[in-house]
Amino acid sequence: MTDTLYYDIVVIGSGIAGLRAALEVKRVAGDKVSLALISKIQLMRSHSVSAEGGTAAVLYPEEGDSFALHAWDTIKGADFLADQDAVWMMVKLLPEEIRQLERWGMPWSRRPDGRIAQRPFGGHSFPRACFAADKTGFYEMQTLYSRLVGYENWDRYDEVYVTSFIVENGEFKGVTAIDMKTGEFLVFRARAGIIATGGAGRIYKFTTYAHTVTGDGQAMALRAGIPLKDMEFIQFHPTGLVPSGILITEGARGEGGYLINNKGERFMKRYAPQKMELAPRDVVSRAEMTEILEGRGFKDPVSGLEYVLLDLRHLGEEKINERLPAVREIAIKHAGIDPVEEPIPVRPVAHYSMGGIHTDIYYRVLSVENKWIKGLWAAGEVSCASVHGANRLGSNSTAECLTSGRIAGRQAAQYVMKMKELRAPEPKPSEESIQKEEKRIFDMLLKHESGSATVYEIRAQLRETMDKYVYVFRDESGLKKALQTILKLREAMKNVYPSDKSRIYNTDFITVLETQNMLDVAYSVAYGALLRTESRGAHFRTDYPKRDDENWLKHTITYMNADGKLEVTYIPVTITTWKPIERKY
Ligand code: FUM
Repeated sequence: MTDTLYYDIVVIGSGIAGLRAALEVKRVAGDKVSLALISKIQLMRSHSVSAEGGTAAVLYPEEGDSFALHAWDTIKGADFLADQDAVWMMVKLLPEEIRQLERWGMPWSRRPDGRIAQRPFGGHSFPRACFAADKTGFYEMQTLYSRLVGYENWDRYDEVYVTSFIVENGEFKGVTAIDMKTGEFLVFRARAGIIATGGAGRIYKFTTYAHTVTGDGQAMALRAGIPLKDMEFIQFHPTGLVPSGILITEGARGEGGYLINNKGERFMKRYAPQKMELAPRDVVSRAEMTEILEGRGFKDPVSGLEYVLLDLRHLGEEKINERLPAVREIAIKHAGIDPVEEPIPVRPVAHYSMGGIHTDIYYRVLSVENKWIKGLWAAGEVSCASVHGANRLGSNSTAECLTSGRIAGRQAAQYVMKMKELRAPEPKPSEESIQKEEKRIFDMLLKHESGSATVYEIRAQLRETMDKYVYVFRDESGLKKALQTILKLREAMKNVYPSDKSRIYNTDFITVLETQNMLDVAYSVAYGALLRTESRGAHFRTDYPKRDDENWLKHTITYMNADGKLEVTYIPVTITTWKPIERKY
């Protein structure tokens, strides 16, 4: 049975970007515009709650910080692949976002004088990460949500899994979805959509991400003919807890933590003598892997994972409890190590997608021809404007979730109000689009597993492949192996159906749909990485170890053709203020 619903705006995803976008729609349009907030999990479980260390913003220019310094740090950190106009826009909006959160009740950590405290983060030349202990994302989500509930004319759709974006004749018409609680097929017709589904970290095995982060938004975009940008740039955060991969916040190094090898050396002195542990993440992750590969690491006997140590002992128990309580709790519960007494085992961990859905600086979703897909925006990690270029600086992620949510929400609200004023007819997706999607999904429940592997085996193989060949150091031979495996797994998935045929809370069914998405996203990552024959930011090719501005100062645009194959084209980077120079830290 199909249920068709109508809302003026649908927001897909309820992390920081989705909540901020929904809130902005309501601030601008109040109850004049109806809104659906759709989430595949319960709202407050979105992965943004796990954001720990902070949100960057220029708060104290009188102490030496400035927009220009924040923009410069971000662009240099991005290895000059960021679009500089987009970066300027973000940094200028951020102080107001931080203060607005403050007015809405955000419990920022404080300086002794009561003003908002900031801590150092990698690659920033000023301590500009505003934080709430090491639970910043959790408090930001709470604050945004508690504000949103004060508005009317919007509905929450928790545990509703969106399966497609309906785009017809260059215009957004709505989305299709499965209500996971009942198995019902839903069609949301809408004048505007804001995609805020987050990243794709679970295409890796060793990742900081929750199991829900499966690249659904990026894959749905590809299927709808929408291109992705710069997907080869995956961030590996230097401090993933061994063996689980849970994030140990960069705030731990911001508070003064050291990285040490098996000789007891602070090895960062060899790689970034000035910034040391607070160099950008790509630099620190490569340093850690070099130490490990040259035999100066440690090995976990159970998982076989090699690692270095993060030493916080010199910070003392009081500071650790006040500033890093979650780090202490996580290390004790998940590694049996109390950082007050022992160093923490860490290694680079898949943490963030710098690439995402191709948008302009206003987060309007663009086609391959760079034309706006009318009525559609993307915000947060799923989008690529691009402010992070080839390597994001820590604390610029929640920052962009806030600014992109605000920009997209405001624009969508204004667009819809205009459409209503003009009495433009409500969008009506074609029956053909709806039926095609319904068949794609639900036919699976009629078919029986005939493939040689289960969906769980395919997922596991994908993740192992990504960990092995599309990690910190990459080369042609490994990337070719990864691509071949991904294509083989994609083929195998065509014959894999859920073994559970029921409709109610059928997680086996959702796993199949997610795995199809993960394979498409992994395909775009590995393919882009193979084609980019240079090293830039987080994409390091041992066979092409130098940055090559002459040939590669450009964005990768990937889209899916009618046969399900990926095609690639390139567009220039917007450089408004600073020409690329060599990065030294
Ligand atoms: O280390 C962290 O707290 C992560 C922050 C970020 O990715 O921005």
